[in-house]
Amino acid sequence: NWTTGNVIEEQVEAIRKQVGDKRAICGLSGGVDSAVAAALVQKAIGSQLTCVYVDHGLMRKGETEQVEKDFVAATGVQLKVVDASERFLDALKGVTDPEEKRKIIGREFIRVFEQAQAEIVADEGPAVEFLVQGTLYPDVVESGGGTGTANIKSHHNVGGLPEDLEFKLIEPLRKLFKDEVRMVGQELGLPEEIVQRQPFPGPGLGIRIVGEVTRERLDLLREADAIAREELTAAGLDRDIWQCPVVLLADVRSVGVQGDGRTYGHPIVLRPVSSEDAMTADWSRLPYDVLARISTRITNEVKDVNRVVLDVTSKPPGTIEWE
Ligand code: XMP
Repeated sequence: NWTTGNVIEEQVEAIRKQVGDKRAICGLSGGVDSAVAAALVQKAIGSQLTCVYVDHGLMRKGETEQVEKDFVAATGVQLKVVDASERFLDALKGVTDPEEKRKIIGREFIRVFEQAQAEIVADEGPAVEFLVQGTLYPDVVESGGGTGTANIKSHHNVGGLPEDLEFKLIEPLRKLFKDEVRMVGQELGLPEEIVQRQPFPGPGLGIRIVGEVTRERLDLLREADAIAREELTAAGLDRDIWQCPVVLLADVRSVGVQGDGRTYGHPIVLRPVSSEDAMTADWSRLPYDVLARISTRITNEVKDVNRVVLDVTSKPPGTIEWE
């Protein structure tokens, strides 16, 4: 009979046995899965675990701080934060093709992660033999199941690893579904804001800017996204919907009027969806007054945005993310 208590107990024991007196590392993405996996392993082996968080500068507002402060406070985990935003922005300069962006972000991520990992391995102390991954049951099924699904986007999991890394894997969530992972995280004392987070793509805001990714555009999108999240949370809707990507159409401009002046700014797209597993999705029928508040606040508070539009496409034919 399944209880979160049982799962935690079983896993803690198994992990202790597996790791012995060696060390483990874990890539944190800021997402639910890697956070819960890390917390579980931390509970089992404490200071034998080191977490690595690569800040690629494509995070949402407050995300890095959430990992640096709240996650560490809740778990006591040893954390190495690498600020690599310059490097990612440089690599993304001039790039507009979605697949190219994804590949660049994935590649840079691995390089930074490997460097951090090499530094940890070079530390004094027992050998680092294990890598913790927040793989869930649906991930196992989707990647190994041979379902014949066509590869539509090169999904990149921050926290994911290059294939030639010479580590043994610890995957304590392999048998769990997302809602179960959330329950385990809650039981482990992780903050609500982490446990109840909506899914967020590994390449972050980099694939929510249609057009070239620049620091200014990222700042702008971060503000718009923070407003949408705030209002959805205030309306108590954040847990009803699966997720709500906020997308900046950086290469599109339209004419507007603000105060007594003409504006020529960018549109922001709201993409609220409901879904069971992200394989298919429907657009969420959000209340008009919530949409109105989000729209008013974004156009008032975010520079260079003069229009907010709603994406009313299901998946298929649209994917959830725009890139
Ligand atoms: P799409 O856009 O394919 O997205 O309908 C389906 C779900 O996957 C998330 N997503 C990603 N997650 N790395 C991730 O970890 C990625 O590269 C990636 N791309 C999309 C997306 O947010 C949605 O929940």
